[in-house]
Order: sequence, then structure tokens, then C-alpha cells
Amino acid sequence: MKKIFFLWALGILAGMQPVFSQSASIAEPGVAVFYPAQFDSTATLPSLAIVKDLQKKDSLPGDWTVKPEYLQIEGRNAVRFDFEEGVDLYGTGEVIGDLRRNNTDVTLWNTDNYEYAKFDGKQLYQAHPWILGVRPDGTSFGILADNSWRQEIVLDDDAEIISEGPAFRVVVIEKENPQEVMKTLADLTGTMAMPPLWALGYQQSRYSYYPDTAVEELADEFRKRKIPADVIWMDIDYMDGFRVFTFDEEGFPNPEKLNDYLHSKDFKSVYMIDPGVKQDSTYFVYQQGDAGNHWVLDSLGNEYNGEVWPGQVAFPDYTRPETQKWWASLYIDFMNLGIDGVWNDMNEPAVFDGPGGTMPDNNIHRGGGELPEDIHLRYHNVYGLLMVRSSREGILDVNPEKRPFVLSRANYLGGQRYAATWTGDNSSTWDNLKMSIPMSLNLSLSGQSFNGPDIGGFTKTPTPEVFGHWIALGAYYPFSRNHTSNDTEAQEPWAFGEEIEDVSRTAINRRYRLLPYLYTLFHEASTTGMPIMRPTFFADLTNQELRDEQQSFLLGKNLLIIPQWAEDLKMPKGNWETVSFENEEADPYQATVKLREGAIVPVGPVIQSTEDYSTDRITLLVSPDKAGKASGTLYDDAGEGFGYKDGEFSIIEFTASKVSGKRIKVNVKQTEGNLKKDRQYRIALVKDGKVTYSPWSSKNTFTIKI
Ligand code: NOJ
Repeated sequence: MKKIFFLWALGILAGMQPVFSQSASIAEPGVAVFYPAQFDSTATLPSLAIVKDLQKKDSLPGDWTVKPEYLQIEGRNAVRFDFEEGVDLYGTGEVIGDLRRNNTDVTLWNTDNYEYAKFDGKQLYQAHPWILGVRPDGTSFGILADNSWRQEIVLDDDAEIISEGPAFRVVVIEKENPQEVMKTLADLTGTMAMPPLWALGYQQSRYSYYPDTAVEELADEFRKRKIPADVIWMDIDYMDGFRVFTFDEEGFPNPEKLNDYLHSKDFKSVYMIDPGVKQDSTYFVYQQGDAGNHWVLDSLGNEYNGEVWPGQVAFPDYTRPETQKWWASLYIDFMNLGIDGVWNDMNEPAVFDGPGGTMPDNNIHRGGGELPEDIHLRYHNVYGLLMVRSSREGILDVNPEKRPFVLSRANYLGGQRYAATWTGDNSSTWDNLKMSIPMSLNLSLSGQSFNGPDIGGFTKTPTPEVFGHWIALGAYYPFSRNHTSNDTEAQEPWAFGEEIEDVSRTAINRRYRLLPYLYTLFHEASTTGMPIMRPTFFADLTNQELRDEQQSFLLGKNLLIIPQWAEDLKMPKGNWETVSFENEEADPYQATVKLREGAIVPVGPVIQSTEDYSTDRITLLVSPDKAGKASGTLYDDAGEGFGYKDGEFSIIEFTASKVSGKRIKVNVKQTEGNLKKDRQYRIALVKDGKVTYSPWSSKNTFTIKI
């Protein structure tokens, strides 16, 4: 206490804000944890971001460079980091703006931000108290401010994280490169669970397809037009007066029948569930919530009500273990109707008549179990995370043999453990199309790999040109869904005439061809935390020029995606061969797909949905390096269920080498897993912009002439 007073007095004398001392230790190799001296653990912990126990294992080495200085800024608890010159900053979640986050000010306060119009788009639906730094030499660090209170990240020459809550602990990761930092972030915060294969397919949504016959016709239309697709989404109008867990009797009288129909056409269905429960004493969900005392309270301890779609609603208090259980139980009857996935929206939470579009800061969340009672200011940013945690558990309880799929608009650092995300209410403009890449990349660099924007844009109607370019890019987002609002024109792939329909088909065909590779990347993300979509500079950490390249991006390590509209593009080192796909009509929209020198990428045939997915015949795109060598991986499992956790999967490694200067030989070797399959392979040698195919082979070694 004396020491704090001394430092505080010293600060006043020096005309500065008081600086609080801190303790620091090493919890894992390259992971330091810093605590402010006056740390009150119950005020910010348990962490909802970090799942790893961060006990002290060692003392902080004397040469550790990235250290927080604890201070107060305008009466708020803050930390400041000084960086050496030339550090590039990333992460901080999904806000709009450049990939490189230097000179950016982000507010972490989950906000329903229609068209990203408020706060210059620097305050959106999710909060990621996380900064990734990359030094000129490629070494890298990550800073995690371990608290969920409203806070601001101010990135200039230095970084300040200024919270409205109590002083918080900070975790700093220090590694050889940003890839290792991302893996360590995943080690601390958890990885996304392996999704069902169908969630990697193309998905069609609008606010709202209505009634059920329109949904059936939509499914038929995809199959008739031979545009591959896996999922149709049900937005709020399927409900009875926007009451969650109910169905509109006129438009959706028999959801089970509708889902059966969709399944018979190889489609899956995802239905929206919002957190707000209509305040209606005749409605079973409200009755149950009331009886169970499940609602968030106002500052006086009464049920808090605010306006969302159904009118005045009450909000489940997901900090309460009883409420989590109750919410999860609501999914039993719901999922038993044959629903495949759940879309949790408006869970910032959005409140139309609430202050700042949400609930008051001093509302009360009662907690229980691990979480203490506290005000909304603390729990706001994790409201969505706690909701999707409960949703996921509920879905898993009903269908324990199936992998849950939840999409959430709001979330928090670490929320990849429970749900995928999309970037909310964007617009159908060129600008929004272009900014979707840095948005998705920074979400990926914040731990949330399974993400993508509304393809085509949510508000307004895109021109055919914008839609064409968007679908051509959208085929490569980890989450690939076309969605639009209720006051816009049709946005299905065929809505813009024949040319754009063909463009859409070609792009989506490509996504399905790439599924063996994409699925392998999802497996990698779910085991190591490496993002699926990665910034181009990951391919070449020494080239400073790439650090702000945000028109192109990497899919995994081996493919570089370059939209047609990219200008003055900066390329990473090495020879990147352009891949051409079989039986494809050229058009001016398709993105250029480039294959890394030395890489092997497994691809499959065009299929109409993942129901037809098979790895029986795999084509290997091979680009040998100068020594004639290349390598790549295929991950394979049932695409559903949890058998893979008991070894029912295969990891197959491909290695190519030169034989006698004239041929390339590819070797196939299963290195992990008990799933054995007879597969046929062929080589697709990608060289000088041309692709040459070998015959199919069932052997483990086969060759092609170069
Ligand atoms: C807001 C979501 O962002 C949007 O995607 C959805 O269509 C509407 N809510 C209606 O549910």
C-alpha cells in the first residue's frame, strides 16, 4: 500500500498520472501474465476468453520487451505499451478499416450497427480485446486485455487499452512469427470445434423467405439450375409474431414437413433464434422464463424490458447457470423438428428503445456458479458469447451424435469455441465488398476463423456487377452465405440475369471443388488455431510491403486468392502458379487462384451439395519447387458426428519429388487416423499457367511427365 502511495505521489510530483506497480510471471513458454498491484480477481475473472489455467511457472526474463505500464487515463484503468519503430498491428476484432490497424481507435462494446454507419464503423457487433503485433523482422507478439468491460483500444505509435472497469490482467504472447502467436492464442482461448461438413457449403438466406412453399421452391430452383448449395436460412418471419421457438401458423404451419422436404433435396435448414422473449403472459417461453426467474434485472431489481422485433421483451440472464440450462432445454422440441442449425441474432443485445441501442449499463446480471453478480457494463460484451454457449449445449443435448452449428452476430474473444460469425448488416456497395477482406482477416487474426460477410451485401440491392464480383470472392470466405434484407430486390445467384448466374455457378462450383482442401483447413483451425483465411504477408514475413496488402489473401498456406478488381497488387516471394479449373467458361469476374511453389492441394469434383461429397477420387494440384519437390495434406472424416475423436479420420500426406529429371513422382502416405479408404488419385501439374493431368491411379506412388 505504501509503495502504491509512493508511486502515486511521485506521479503527481512529476505532473503525470499515477502508475501502479504490477506483478509479472511466465505461465507458458512465451506467455507472460501481468497483474496490476491492486488486482481484484472477482471483478474481471473468471475469464470468458481464456480457458487455460495461467499459473506462474517461471519469472519474467529480464529481456522481455512487451510489457504493460499500468496507469489511469481520465480516471479509467488503462495499460500502455510502447513499441519499437516499424511494428505493424492487427487483430482488434471485426471493425471496418484497413487490415493494418496502426492509428486506429476501436471501442469494444458490442453494437447493432446498421450499415456500419455509427462510430465510423469502429464499434461493431463483437469485442476482441486483442492486438497482434508483427515486427519488421517477422517476430511477433500478442496482447490480450483479459476483461470484458467496455473498453477502448487506441493504436498509435504506442497502444493504450482503456477500460471502464477495474484494473485487469494482461497476457502477452511473444513468438518467432505471427503464425505461432495465433496458435498460442488458440491454446489459451480454445479453438473452433470441427463443424459439420455441410456448414462449409454455399448457403442462401434472406430476410425472410416466406412462406414455406417459397423455401421449397428456392431449394428446387438451386437444383434445377445446377448451382451447388447446402443450406437455406429461415429469418425471423417464420416465427409467430417474432416469438422465439414458435412458428407462424399461416406461413410455416408444418416446419417438420418443410425440413423433410429440404433434406430430401439435400439441403439443411438453419433457423433464427434471438435472445429477446416477448413479454406475453400467454406465451410458453415467457411463462417459463418468468416462473424460473430467468430475466436480466434493471438497477432496482425488477424484470428489465426493452423493445425488439416482437415489441417489449425480457432478456434471459445467461450469467445464471439455471438460465443457461433452461435456455438450452428450449432447443429440445425445436431441433426435434428436423432443424439442422441455429442462427443467434440481435445478441449484443440490441434493444431498439434502450440507451445506445442496448440495455442500461447498470442493469443487473445475477451470475451464479463461477460468475459473480455484476452490472451490464461488465457483462454486455459477453452476453452473446454466453448465449451461444448455452445454445450450443442445448443443440448438442438433443442431437449428441451431431456436430452443432450456431451462427452468432455478437461474440467476444474466445467465442469461436461456440459459434461461427458473420459481419452483420453491411451494404451492397463496392466499398463494402472490398472492405470485407480486411474485416474477415482481422476477425481471423482475432481467433474467429469461421467468418464471412453477407455475400452481395445486406442493405440495398447490388448492381449485377457488384454482385458478380462479390459472389466470385464469396466462394472463398470460410463462411459463404448470401443474405439480404427485407426491403431489397432478389439476391439469389440467378436474380441478375444469365451472365451473373453463370458467374455464380462457376464460383460456387470452385468452392465445392476445393472442399477437400477447405475441410483440411477447418481441421487445422480446429486443432491448432491457425486461421483458414490469412493475410498475404503470412507467406513472406520479411517483405514489409506486404504488411498492408488487403486485396488478396491466403486460403491456408497454399492458395492465394486475388479478386479481379485488385490493383497494384503486391505479391509474396516465390513462384505462384495460376490454377485453372476443368470445364470452366472464362468470365471477367472469377478471382485468380494461385498455388504456392512447393505445394500440393487436394481437390474434388463439382458436386451439388456436401451430401455427395466423397474423397474416393482426389485430384492433386501440384506445383513443384525448383528442386522438383512439393507437399500437402488431406484431412478426411465422416463430415458429421464425433467418430473422428475416436480415430475415425485420416490424415494423408502427399510428397512430390523429381525422378530422373523428367518426371514428378507423388507419394501418398496415411500418417494419422484409423479411417482407411481406397482412393484414386491423379496429379494435376500446374506449371506456367497450364494444368496437365496424369491418369487416375489407385497406387500409393504415381508419376507425371514434366
Ligand atoms: C439483423 C441481422 O443482422 C440481419 O441479418 C437479419 O436479417 C435481421 N436482423 C432480421 O432478423
